[in-house]
Amino acid sequence: MSSTNGRDGMLRIDNLSVYYGGIQALKDVSLHLETGELLAIIGANGAGKTTLLRTLSGVLKARSGSIRFEGKELTRLSPFDIVALGIAHSPEGRQLFGGLTVLENLKLGAVQRTDRAAIEQDLARTFELFPVLKERRLQRAGTLSGGEQQMLAIGRALMARPRLLLLDEPSLGLAPLLVERIFGVIARLKAERVTLLLVEQNARMALNVADRAYVMETGRIKLRGTAAELAANPEVERAYLGG
Ligand SMILES: Nc1ncnc2c1ncn2[C@@H]1O[C@H](COP(=O)(O)OP(=O)(O)OP(=O)(O)O)[C@@H](O)[C@H]1O
Ligand SMILES: [Mg+2]
Repeated sequence: MSSTNGRDGMLRIDNLSVYYGGIQALKDVSLHLETGELLAIIGANGAGKTTLLRTLSGVLKARSGSIRFEGKELTRLSPFDIVALGIAHSPEGRQLFGGLTVLENLKLGAVQRTDRAAIEQDLARTFELFPVLKERRLQRAGTLSGGEQQMLAIGRALMARPRLLLLDEPSLGLAPLLVERIFGVIARLKAERVTLLLVEQNARMALNVADRAYVMETGRIKLRGTAAELAANPEVERAYLGG
């Protein structure tokens, strides 16, 4: 088994299958992601996008297949070990600690780190990306608006200083102006060479910012290509871009 990062890229998933009881939610999913790349995964409700991210971060176990991150097999590791390897997850539905403050939630993102000075740097950077979080750092997370909660979920994931950031539906339920803001931050992270795996139902925005994309349908990868190729594909246009 080789672990040549150059050739395998940062992340390589082969023939991944995941079940909920007797129901198969991922069917032979294979994909790869290069360092510094922004990969989007689009697809309708129930396609398996969240299942894929939850399996990547170790919350769900694979029935078969492999997930290799920088040459290391992840499928048998705990979520804790996977964060320690450098993968952070901003989950669907945000999953913040509503009774804790903004600052406490952010610090939880760095709970596995001991590099105090660098944690402070990352906190400053997070506040720079999302000034509203600084203003509201002592407010309980549960009392933030939906958009502010989304910013906090992304900020918390960034506090792990991840090499790979998983974003599950960061624009879901947000007003157009906030969707623009969130995508502005995603574009900035990309410019800073954070490797990103972005799951979105907003296919238009996702294909605008991504390098490449995969389309999922009922647990399988249906189409793949550069973001520009997929945006120009009539099938994608019809099903996901409202064309
Ligand atoms: N905990 C669960 N138990 C049983 N089935 C589940 C569970 N979670 C998800 N599923 C099923 O697995 C399939 C994939 O769900 P998943 O949440 O991964 O889809 P998704 O692409 O993220 O959809 P959405 O765009 O609505 O978030 C769906 O058919 C869903 O009903
Ligand atoms: Mg989902």
